[in-house]
Amino acid sequence: MQNQIVVSGIRSTGYLHLGNYFGAIQNYIKMQDAYNCYFFVADLHALTTHPEAAELRPNVYRVIAENIACGLEPEKVALYVQSDVPETNELYLLLNMLAYKGELEKTTSFKDKSRANPNNINAGLLTYPVLMAADIMLHRASFVPVGKDQEQHLEMTRNFAQRFNHRYGVDFFPEPMPFNFGEQLVKVPSLDNTGKMSKSENENATIYLTDSDEVILKKCKKAVTADTPTIANSEVHPAVENIFMLLDLVNTDGATAKFREDYANCSIRYGDLKGQLGEDIVKFVKPIRERALELLANEAMLQNIMKTGAEKARESAINTVNEVRKLMGIQYY
Ligand code: ADP
Ligand code: TRP
Repeated sequence: MQNQIVVSGIRSTGYLHLGNYFGAIQNYIKMQDAYNCYFFVADLHALTTHPEAAELRPNVYRVIAENIACGLEPEKVALYVQSDVPETNELYLLLNMLAYKGELEKTTSFKDKSRANPNNINAGLLTYPVLMAADIMLHRASFVPVGKDQEQHLEMTRNFAQRFNHRYGVDFFPEPMPFNFGEQLVKVPSLDNTGKMSKSENENATIYLTDSDEVILKKCKKAVTADTPTIANSEVHPAVENIFMLLDLVNTDGATAKFREDYANCSIRYGDLKGQLGEDIVKFVKPIRERALELLANEAMLQNIMKTGAEKARESAINTVNEVRKLMGIQYY
């Protein structure tokens, strides 16, 4: 399997959270031994919505440090920063010729982000999926470990790969598939039953990998639940289902099954459920938080990791872009 290529990226838009961990990083760690992995910080993608110059650097360092704190081993993968691999930009431009305005405008993430930020609907936001396709196709990847929210972007990447192969009559780009070791892609819900955990929204309902024990316990205590059921075996309320799901991710001693039973026989105590959730999340997050802080104190080491990662990534990137130029006829002497 060593030659199977894997690519994934995380935007440098804030603090990593449980959604990033269970949607993406958990799979990175499982894949790093068996696949040829390229993992990067998507700092250019961050610019589409987060252009503040002063925030970019700390955010990039943090994402690198937090990935390593979660168990990613830079010696086993290429861990790099997107903008350190300028071949990305060239492939992005070339792929833009294969991307249609209509399909870009219909993309869910574009519609959501345009709605959320009507004063900054820039061309980078519109072509976000093309840049993401460039990241993936740059290494001719077959697998992309991501959360459920990225499914549509991957489908678009497959379309661009197919179009390229078809237009130039080649079988050059594989069609990359989303990857999760579990059966399904994960969506980690927010604690307030309004959507998913996210770096840049919903701060009080998102658990960050840097949250202190007290903050975690407080956020869990405030998690939204529902009325206690009064009819046995009634369907679980979505807000409570979210808490069960979160507990399932972090608990190791079967507590979710017990709370499900309590729900079914109408004896569930939400205070206990949320207390258990808080305790289990604290246990999970604490070692990651502490390791990330240690790593962040060592900038020189993080810089070395970024440089080595970029070198590894560029080797494969230069190769792909050279081939693409040849196939497209952009080679005049
Ligand atoms: P965010 O949406 O928090 O800004 P990114 O867009 O950088 O995070 O996502 C990085 C990775 O984390 C992607 O693979 C994405 O699918 C995954 N991810 C982000 N939020 C969640 C979530 N709540 N549940 C599952 N996966 C998620
Ligand atoms: N768009 C992804 C997100 O918002 C981040 C990303 C950028 C990515 N390029 C990628 C993910 C390439 C996987 C592969 O989460």
